Amino acid sequence: MYNGNERITICNHPLLQHKITMLRMKETGTNEFRKLVEEIGMLMGYEALQSLELTNVEIETPICKTVSPIIAGKKPAIVPILRAGLGMVSGLLALMPTAKVGHIGLYRDEVTHEPHEYYCKLPNPIELRKIFVTDPMLATGGSAVDAIKLIKDHGGRDITFMCIIAAPEGLEKLSKAHPDVNIYAGHLDDHLNENAYIVPGLGDAGDRIFGTK
Ligand code: PRP
Ligand code: URA
Repeated sequence: MYNGNERITICNHPLLQHKITMLRMKETGTNEFRKLVEEIGMLMGYEALQSLELTNVEIETPICKTVSPIIAGKKPAIVPILRAGLGMVSGLLALMPTAKVGHIGLYRDEVTHEPHEYYCKLPNPIELRKIFVTDPMLATGGSAVDAIKLIKDHGGRDITFMCIIAAPEGLEKLSKAHPDVNIYAGHLDDHLNENAYIVPGLGDAGDRIFGTK
């Protein structure tokens, strides 16, 4: 719970904090950065997936028949916000290999910092699935707010947003625009700078994952 809001979780596991520090360091190269984002996706996923529901099934062990729980319902959907959100997908798929994967393409205008949509493909029926939206950075919150609106416009209802680093501005904007969405952040940073980059942050997540720029 964060500031009395039960929908917001700032994950504080020591392993996660250690890996986020490695991620922030400007010396961390593309290969290591990618691996860290994947590992963080898995560690955060372990926490976020606590909300998965269970159903009991009858099974037989080598000893006797028994009733034991398995994950209930339709396979969950992982929806990365392109590009940087892609980096967290493999970590989540390691936890739930049968999940479906959708994609939302948004880029932030360098001057206005407003998000622009260029792609959307979601698994059907989206309305019956638990949806995990991934993006390492929640800065102004514009991209997350628009991506989640798009998912809701397609019928998605049960939505969790996962980011590695959040700015207070983005967290506030997202939780106000979508109060029904669960938010998991690996760390809450200090503020945004004049270019709407997170401070201290880690720089441009997409560029660091894909080795561009
Ligand atoms: C980055 C990041 C988020 C967005 C966050 O993506 O991955 O999607 O900015 O900023 P916001 O909260 O102010 O909207 P970017 O638009 O740079 O695209 P990329 O992932 O393709 O690099
Ligand atoms: N997008 C990023 O990749 N980093 C920031 O700090 C803000 C937006």
